Amino acid sequence: MTPRRRPLVAGNWKMHHGGSTGVELATEVVRLAPSLLHVDLVIAPPFTALAACAHECDGSRVEVAGQNMHPKDSGAFTGEVSPRMLLDAGCTWVILGHSERRQHFGESDAFVAEKIAAALAAGLRPIACVGETLAEREAGRTLAVVERQVRAFLPALAASSRPAAIAYEPVWAIGTGKNAGPAEAQEVHAAIRAWLQAASMELASDTRILYGGSVKLDNARDLLASPDVDGALVGGASLDAASFGGIARAAEALSTS
Ligand code: 13P
Repeated sequence: MTPRRRPLVAGNWKMHHGGSTGVELATEVVRLAPSLLHVDLVIAPPFTALAACAHECDGSRVEVAGQNMHPKDSGAFTGEVSPRMLLDAGCTWVILGHSERRQHFGESDAFVAEKIAAALAAGLRPIACVGETLAEREAGRTLAVVERQVRAFLPALAASSRPAAIAYEPVWAIGTGKNAGPAEAQEVHAAIRAWLQAASMELASDTRILYGGSVKLDNARDLLASPDVDGALVGGASLDAASFGGIARAAEALSTS
């Protein structure tokens, strides 16, 4: 049996805790880290709290991610943040192509791929998000949609030696309390692994594929137990340090069992 990849559990805070409450939450996550030695922990606060949270995480094993980024280095892009700015704020990761960006802000596969290439070139590790809508799943198009999304950024991942992560987040499972069952998640994760493997064995073995969409304390263990599920991208449950820690503990228990 191939050894499990080191799990990565990332908390996407979305548009919550952009000020002092974010710093408090980061402090609580930092306190959890010493008991979670076999899991990589990432928090993704809103832009306004990034630098303060990164300061709080300094010297701990908790890393900080942006939730989005513009691909250009600088320029007249009001309201946007560049890769360099995320690095300066203390980020090592950036979530890109989240379905909320694709849905509400019209981000195309090509634009997401451009951002992923820019993040890698700047020295950030992307968490590249993919996932189908309910209509696409019901039309039997899940794998076709996810393949299209992955193929758009695969050349950028293959061209870089910096390890990235991919998050499979079925859109119908985000914030709904519904989640893909472990077998449904594993099917898509295994397909993603195979597309990566066709590009390079190394890429397939080094890229962690996270599951996201209503991951909670009570379903984390089952979801994370699948061989191609290397961690979780957690939304709502990451806003509470105890539940985020519990999900990370489930990943830790599986990786050391
Ligand atoms: P929920 O865990 O709240 O469903 O959100 C998932 C998500 O979108 C993480 O990026």
